[in-house]
Amino acid sequence: MIHPFILAPMAGCTDLPFRLLCREYGADLCYSEMIDCHDLVALKPDCLELLQTNVAEQPVAMQLFGSDPATMGEAAAILSEYPIACIDINLGCPMEKVIQQGAGAALMKNPRLAEKIITSVCKNSTKPVTIKIRSGWNQHTITAPEIARIAEDAGAQAIAIHARTWSDGFTGPIDHRVILQTMAKVSLPVFANGDITSHEQGLALLKKIGCAGVMIGRAALGAPWIFSGAVNQHPSMAYRIKALLRHLELAETHLGPEPGLSKIRNHAWKYFRGTTTGPAIRKQIDAATTYPELKTVIHTLAERFFPPSARANEERDNQRP
Ligand SMILES: Cc1cc2nc3c(=O)[nH]c(=O)nc-3n(C[C@H](O)[C@H](O)[C@H](O)COP(=O)(O)O)c2cc1C
Repeated sequence: MIHPFILAPMAGCTDLPFRLLCREYGADLCYSEMIDCHDLVALKPDCLELLQTNVAEQPVAMQLFGSDPATMGEAAAILSEYPIACIDINLGCPMEKVIQQGAGAALMKNPRLAEKIITSVCKNSTKPVTIKIRSGWNQHTITAPEIARIAEDAGAQAIAIHARTWSDGFTGPIDHRVILQTMAKVSLPVFANGDITSHEQGLALLKKIGCAGVMIGRAALGAPWIFSGAVNQHPSMAYRIKALLRHLELAETHLGPEPGLSKIRNHAWKYFRGTTTGPAIRKQIDAATTYPELKTVIHTLAERFFPPSARANEERDNQRP
């Protein structure tokens, strides 16, 4: 793992089955969904479900969010008991309910509180601690280099940066200059995140800015093959369906025989993004009202696009020329 390709944390998406799938396609490290430190300390059952992990998916990073240094420290101590590679701190989430409590991206405008939180998590964790930040709060408050420096001094071991501010949300250009400025401030590995839409683009970014690794979020949804340098990045329908069937298999194994419909539906249609039949397939997927119905839709697609006669050629056709 010289320059890792990393699966970004995504609430509602990067659960154990999806992380396992991304590992199978070559992701070097996967991040969990964000975990509310208060819920973890209270041992709320919904929260404990987010901690599901196994040996096959290692290394995995579990991400905490919160704004109270003591509770973040307590949560880090609990997480340390889990067989995980590292504990990440969320300084990038723009959601209103997270910002209102002074957590997530709000910490980008509060370096002193960020310092207390990172220090507390590092003190209470027996695992390496990483942070995931944005460029800053807005274009007038670019704090990524300062917060990165604070994090290194407080004991963090790596930094992932989504090179947009809180006010940018998820759109607008990625500012690679801020990543370079951040790299210049620390000796820690810095992972670049934001708008990487193919494996090639990840490699090009590594070459262009010399970051330690790249982190991929949205483009991995419905396309876990993005982590593989060997797979055609615009694969056939048969290849997409095969990946989706594997996703369902992992979901049934780890979430139970009938995984949550809305979650799986939300993953499923993305496997057909950018294909001519994608919109029609999405309609069929959205129309399913139970998990077995959804499975029938997908198996019918498999019969149509992935007949046994085509299976022998399928692997060969999806390797890079
Ligand atoms: C559905 C969704 C959920 C996300 N949840 C989290 C999260 O839990 N923690 C976090 O740090 N970032 C979260 N993010 C931000 C991503 O990790 C990533 O920084 C962002 O999407 C930019 O990268 P991308 O362009 O590769 O998607 C989320 C993004 C999306 C789209």
